[in-house]
Amino acid sequence: MTRRVSTTTDQADAWRGHARHLAEQLVATGDIHDPRWAAAIAETPRHHLVPISYRQDPAGAWAADEHSSGDDVSAALARVYSTATLVSAVRGGEAVSSSTKPDLMVRMLEALEIQDGMRVLEIGTGTGYNAALLCHRLSDQQVFSVDVEPELVATARERLAAIDLRPRLAARDGQTGCPDHAPYDRIIATCSLPAIPWAWAEQLQPEGLVLADVKLGPGAGNLAVLRRDGHQLRGRFTTRWAGFMAARTAPAVPGPRYAVTPVAAGASQRETTAPPQPWATHREAWMLAALRLPAGTVHGYALGPDNRAPRAGRLSAPDGSWCEVALDPREVSEPEAGSRRRLQEAGPTALWTLVEDAYRTWRAAGQPAWERFGLTATAEQTLLWLDQPGNALGRYQHRAGKRRWEPVRPPAGSDIART
Ligand SMILES: C[S@@+](CC[C@H](N)C(=O)[O-])C[C@H]1O[C@@H](n2cnc3c(N)ncnc32)[C@H](O)[C@@H]1O
Repeated sequence: MTRRVSTTTDQADAWRGHARHLAEQLVATGDIHDPRWAAAIAETPRHHLVPISYRQDPAGAWAADEHSSGDDVSAALARVYSTATLVSAVRGGEAVSSSTKPDLMVRMLEALEIQDGMRVLEIGTGTGYNAALLCHRLSDQQVFSVDVEPELVATARERLAAIDLRPRLAARDGQTGCPDHAPYDRIIATCSLPAIPWAWAEQLQPEGLVLADVKLGPGAGNLAVLRRDGHQLRGRFTTRWAGFMAARTAPAVPGPRYAVTPVAAGASQRETTAPPQPWATHREAWMLAALRLPAGTVHGYALGPDNRAPRAGRLSAPDGSWCEVALDPREVSEPEAGSRRRLQEAGPTALWTLVEDAYRTWRAAGQPAWERFGLTATAEQTLLWLDQPGNALGRYQHRAGKRRWEPVRPPAGSDIART
């Protein structure tokens, strides 16, 4: 399919070679199996939908890259038609929208098992690139996409129309779906949520699929594909991990984002064998930790005073509690200490003790990978389970006022209960 791209340069078609190359590369890496998605990547002008992207330097400053003009258009196009995420909107120093990595995007689209004739709702229009891929595979009339930012929707609508694509777009909080055009055969979210909103289940056809990034806490969860089965949604996490920006209930506003919390003094010290940065190295265990940690717990790193390099994994909670675990295992008293690391913990909540409990639970269950975890959602609650729905580990209540994950006591005799 040929798309018209508005550009004034003699090299108006230069992008096509780059796009074709990206499609071939995604087939070679096994990210694309269906030639129809390869055609969508090869024939969709990402540079037109993302004419400018932003890069952040180590000091936090953002610089803009233009993709259709400038000294080296070819280098710019090579970056656009690569597997890079392109940050496309920055507000108050924070990225509020981006065009997702194309390799991840096509893996998600293939996981959705989209067939001819299906109607698909996307939550998180952003640049409109993913909506354009969907339009290429289906048709404009079968694609619906919403974003909480009216400005992004207006821009995406204009750019999509310039390449003759007219999916139905709307500016709204996608957590309520888009009832105006329901039912859908598929719902895909390109922002993360603590649980799948029940409104989506109500807008899905029987047997319909939903794919979303379910994060129980910051960085704690993964993409999940759930199928509607009567009055519930059920499915599992995907093998590979991904992380999307969190869904907002209203357009982002610039301004201070972090509350200053009190910091408890008087840390106690001991050693720990749990990994110091589970959010990066042991993500399944980190998800179990999120069931236990207080709401609002923030993770990150303590930096070395001399070189400003990460020195310790760090958690802090709204009640002032904090802990730091040295990244370097040699920071313990005995040289032969193996994987033991120095831990400092302070405040009313023993944060690291909760992480250690989650890590022990995960190890006792045989260090399960993502695909052993699943979710079952009903109108009232979502359960997180291991291996089978009866083996629930966590519960999220959908009713207002209770929207928070909490651990479920494992049944006596289960592997998890024997920890
Ligand atoms: C990773 S970007 C989306 C990428 C997009 N699919 C593309 O192809 O460019 C995530 C988007 O989710 C949007 N978003 C955040 N919260 C939302 C919500 N509650 N409802 C709908 N969209 C939301 C953001 O404004 C942002 O544009």
